[in-house]
Amino acid sequence: MTCQQKQQIYDLLKTAADSVLGFKTKSFDPAPVFYDDPAPDSQTVQDTREHELTSKPSPAPGAAPLYDDLATGSVSTADSIKNLEKQIEVCSRCVLAKTRNNTVPGTGSLKPVVLVVGEGPGFEEDRQALPFVGPAGQLLDKMLAAINLSRSSNTYIANIVKCRPPQNRDPYPEEAEACSSFLQAQIALLKPKAILCVGSVAAKNLLKTEAGVSRLRGNFYQYQNIPVAVTYHPSALLRSADLKRPAWEDLKQFRLKLLELCPKYEESYKPYVRQ
Ligand code: URA
Repeated sequence: MTCQQKQQIYDLLKTAADSVLGFKTKSFDPAPVFYDDPAPDSQTVQDTREHELTSKPSPAPGAAPLYDDLATGSVSTADSIKNLEKQIEVCSRCVLAKTRNNTVPGTGSLKPVVLVVGEGPGFEEDRQALPFVGPAGQLLDKMLAAINLSRSSNTYIANIVKCRPPQNRDPYPEEAEACSSFLQAQIALLKPKAILCVGSVAAKNLLKTEAGVSRLRGNFYQYQNIPVAVTYHPSALLRSADLKRPAWEDLKQFRLKLLELCPKYEESYKPYVRQ
């Protein structure tokens, strides 16, 4: 089913509920984010590409089409992610929309072994519309490379909120809540084998806990049957060198888990080269 069809059914049910109740019910808020039904797992080689790709490549003469036809009812992950990015681009669900320069949906492999979840865009990310491109991002790339993960091969990187909070403050709970369905949709479409939360904002919002990183690290949790690990945010490592050792322990443990889930994942690794 396409996202437009789902939206139509949702609008119909909401209107019906309002009319039966005689007032505007809040039980339909916040509105979910709809996305086209993801293609079956076996589909398209293109899903493994980085999604910096902006236009559909033409198939070689005589080759099978690269993307499923919409008429078949299933579209590629690339198209669904692009559609989601468009919805994020016009989002005005919270006040962060008023001060952003760009939305920062996420970047990386569309068939990721790992989804890294951060907090929210900072100054550079808001300027470039890409996550983790500032100093913390450079450290994150090194941390990932140490366990054979990269945004150019087997990892997708996203944040709890897709717009920069002013002065890089933590996102408020209502902002995280308003944005949560975008991350849920990303997880449903990308189907990562494991999730790495960096920092307490990511962990608290994804795992719905009040516990901080020091308490959460060292264990695995579940988000919709996907194992989730928690470690320190690279910005925290830049501030406190003492945290580097425990963060490295976390990464080693995470790598072992990945090898259990996906024994050959390291073969898919290609280093990320910054432009
Ligand atoms: N910190 C985050 O949590 N996310 C980013 O994208 C950049 C810095």
